[in-house]
Amino acid sequence: MSVTISPSILNCDILDLRGELEKISNADFAHVDVMDNHFVPNLTWGLPVVEQIVAANILPVDAHLMIADADRWAPAYAEAGCASVTFHVEAAAAPIRLAREIRNQGARVGMALKPTTSIEPFEEILDEVDMILIMTVEPGFGGQPFLSSMLPKIRRTREAAKRRGIDLAIQVDGGVSQQTIEQCADAGADVFVAGSAVFKAEDAAAEVETLRTLAAS
Ligand code: DX5
Ligand code: ZN
Repeated sequence: MSVTISPSILNCDILDLRGELEKISNADFAHVDVMDNHFVPNLTWGLPVVEQIVAANILPVDAHLMIADADRWAPAYAEAGCASVTFHVEAAAAPIRLAREIRNQGARVGMALKPTTSIEPFEEILDEVDMILIMTVEPGFGGQPFLSSMLPKIRRTREAAKRRGIDLAIQVDGGVSQQTIEQCADAGADVFVAGSAVFKAEDAAAEVETLRTLAAS
């Protein structure tokens, strides 16, 4: 299975965002966490900042929208040129329609599940998305410990995709590090978000490669 590494810039040096993105240019995507202080108790940035990250053209943008009223806002992130747009299913009134709108804008579409949201109700609509994001922490903050209780959900999602014959990407986000990435890969994840593991490392690019190697092993 191919391995995709998408470092989260949530806790990078935001005053040197261009430099930070350049540090991780060996990654596959830049994971950009959009938070609105409604869906999660934290606030980051919105569309104008994401548009500038896209325009900088250093890495394709993997937008993770932790925002209420995803139906209203998510398509604009696809229109802005994000390579991948992930909305939370808990925040979407009409996830199928929304997924189709994002795809119509030419982006890959991801559907994210908080730790207490099960995959089972969404099995029938897996072919409407390119990726399922299984949160391995409660969304909102970087640096939280990995929830290994999410591993069975990753496994069940991979099994469901196989059963349905779908080429589904499974992303994990939260507490992904050298200590936890192999368990995620074993369970069937293939897209790995790592925030603090990458940006707290002495050499961010080397950390990306280490994570890639561990996930592929
Ligand atoms: C948390 C965000 C994550 C966060 C991960 O809600 O979605 O992308 O940056 O940070 P770490 O890797 O430190 O858990
Ligand atoms: Zn994220």
